[in-house]
Amino acid sequence: MERIWICGSNGRLGKALEHHLNPIDAEIISTDIDTLDVSDCDEVILFARRNRPTVIINCAGVTNHQYCQDHPEEAYRVNGLGARNVAVAAQLINAQLIHLSTDQVFGQHIDGPCKECDQASPLSIFGKSKLFGEEMVSRVCPHHFIIRTSWLYSNENHMVEKVLEKAKKNEVISISRTAIGSPTSAYALSLFIIQLMKSHEYGVYHASCEGYCSQREFTEKILENAGLTAQLKEVEDYSDQIFRPKSVALENFILNISDIYQFPTWQETLADYMTHNGLM
Ligand SMILES: NC(=O)c1ccc[n+]([C@@H]2O[C@H](COP(=O)([O-])OP(=O)(O)OC[C@H]3O[C@@H](n4cnc5c(N)ncnc54)[C@H](OP(=O)(O)O)[C@@H]3O)[C@@H](O)[C@H]2O)c1
Repeated sequence: MERIWICGSNGRLGKALEHHLNPIDAEIISTDIDTLDVSDCDEVILFARRNRPTVIINCAGVTNHQYCQDHPEEAYRVNGLGARNVAVAAQLINAQLIHLSTDQVFGQHIDGPCKECDQASPLSIFGKSKLFGEEMVSRVCPHHFIIRTSWLYSNENHMVEKVLEKAKKNEVISISRTAIGSPTSAYALSLFIIQLMKSHEYGVYHASCEGYCSQREFTEKILENAGLTAQLKEVEDYSDQIFRPKSVALENFILNISDIYQFPTWQETLADYMTHNGLM
């Protein structure tokens, strides 16, 4: 039986993973900042040695972009050294490490969607600290999967539900003029992670639903599925936490050339999510 340790289990993705991983034949061990600070190397190793997980999923991190910009030392300590600490622990107890990363390791839209082999070029402290974390993980723990994903929605962050709420209240919905991404449900990502745990094909993976879209297209699809209309207003620099500020789309290049896993399209996944949650 797998023992799966989720670090950062109170976060948006950690909670979703905890929920979706439960039904499989595995014991879940959950920690967050209140129980285990990933930036404390000794504590992380001690916890790992005591609990002996077979898989560690690292969702812990400082993810608020503005906060990282204002507190770079903390961003590097948690997103960089924290990732290293978890990787050291995974290596010591011979556990598989699944480390969550982000499309923000790419700074801007490079000619077409970004592949795993494209040069990372983060612009923000958040992106730089996450890239530093990736580098630490890949150096320290050979049994790693680094998963870069984007535009995650779930019952935890209510990204889809918020659009519908605004439409029902006849509120104008602000959208970015430039943001593009690959909307992905946390459920779809969880299914992939469950599959990945059975594999030994370690490395970096872009893991988002297939295809990409502008924020306008995503919002319009949510409304269309629900049979609603709303007034959308494009803004130049939309830095709401819900959406990522940079125009970066990820391509699941390695997954597609290696046949490990095929994500459904973002449109199919959105329709499934809305149906499942009674939103259409
Ligand atoms: N959500 C997305 O759209 C998305 C997209 C792409 C990639 N990702 C990646 O997925 C991962 C998880 O994202 P998320 O959206 O779930 O982030 P989140 O909601 O901010 O969750 C991160 C969790 O880590 C905790 N944490 C902070 N510092 C810690 C420390 N020193 N030790 C232990 N735990 C600590 C946070 O606690 P506090 O809240 O109390 O600080 C929070 O509960 C991140 O690596 C992120 O970059 C997310």
